[in-house]
Amino acid sequence: MSLKLNPITFQSRKYTPFSLPPMASLRSPKFVVASVLNSGPKEVENVKKPFSPPLEVHVQVTHSMPPQKIELFKNLEDWAEQNVLVHLKPVEKCWQPQDFLPDPASEGFHDQVKELRERAKELPDDYFVVLVGDMITEEALPTYQTMLNTLDGVRDETGASLTSWAVWNRAWTAEENRHGDLLNKYLYLCGRVDMKQIEKTIQYLIGSGMDPRTENSPYLGFIYTSFQERATFISHGNTARHAKEHGDIKLAQICGTIASDEKRHETAYTKIVEKLFEIDPDGTILALADMMKKKISMPAHLMYDGRDNNLFEHFSAVTQRLGVYTAKDYADILEFLVGRWKVEELTGLSGEGRKAQDYVCGLTPRIRRLEERSQSRVKQTRVMPFSWIFDREVKL
Ligand SMILES: [Fe+2]
Ligand SMILES: [Fe+2]
Repeated sequence: MSLKLNPITFQSRKYTPFSLPPMASLRSPKFVVASVLNSGPKEVENVKKPFSPPLEVHVQVTHSMPPQKIELFKNLEDWAEQNVLVHLKPVEKCWQPQDFLPDPASEGFHDQVKELRERAKELPDDYFVVLVGDMITEEALPTYQTMLNTLDGVRDETGASLTSWAVWNRAWTAEENRHGDLLNKYLYLCGRVDMKQIEKTIQYLIGSGMDPRTENSPYLGFIYTSFQERATFISHGNTARHAKEHGDIKLAQICGTIASDEKRHETAYTKIVEKLFEIDPDGTILALADMMKKKISMPAHLMYDGRDNNLFEHFSAVTQRLGVYTAKDYADILEFLVGRWKVEELTGLSGEGRKAQDYVCGLTPRIRRLEERSQSRVKQTRVMPFSWIFDREVKL
């Protein structure tokens, strides 16, 4: 068997306003190849190795949280048990993908699949691009569990650790696992998409990982997950709304059910950060400002299908155009979190902390102004073929 190596070359990527711009970083905006993740700040110039991830990531900063703060998370174990684990649902009370899909063991299976496919015919190609991108994002779950387990003081040290943090990490993953599973099976049955191209994209993406720049710090990590859970709540909610508008109530139910899980997860993560603000307002506001300066990258920003070097940007452009996830949503999420964590009302901060507070509080209007300016610019209409839908072209 011969192995075909990825033929693309490395290149800097273009960034949408709500993805991962390399500028505006406090640190050097140098890029490294994703395969040097464990080696600390170090730059590698376009070294091409077999199995190298196809896209570039930032210089990797590790263990930026002072080690003495690990104790703080150990001391929060009981608090997390009483305040975070309560947002998990017992397995027996959880929905499963099979609840929303044709039952392969039933007589009516073929008819149910036929109905599903009839309904899917009413949905436009651009909708499928968004739904596929969302499904691929969910399917890269191994990466997100890994990401949670990079965080000092809260990681699952054994794979079956009984600390509250580890129990949460595993149970959160187990709940999330149903999302990609359900969307994947739906898309397989609907007959509208190129499953092999989609599966390749998932394999590339898991192989590439992600670059959230959370530096092993649970402060940064939980701010990131708070933001992301709300972002996925919004986007799955919008794909539900669109499905309903196209007359597919069952698909609307699928997306809406996933969105409600995301909402529950958002509640848990925002509660953790709220607690961090309570016990360490200075450290937490500095972390929030740091994350926002670096910008919150989307979890699947390294996606690649073997063909399109700017696949994530193209997918994002479609989600923006359809209003499924937009730059306005990014600003709305920030505004929501600043309010949720009462950032404006924080008192007793250090000089640096006050600066960070001012920065964060002034950021939403700045993002909105930038967004309005970019909206008012005349845009050329571009179309792009997406391999996920057999290279049919979709407007960006
Ligand atoms: Fe999810
Ligand atoms: Fe989620």
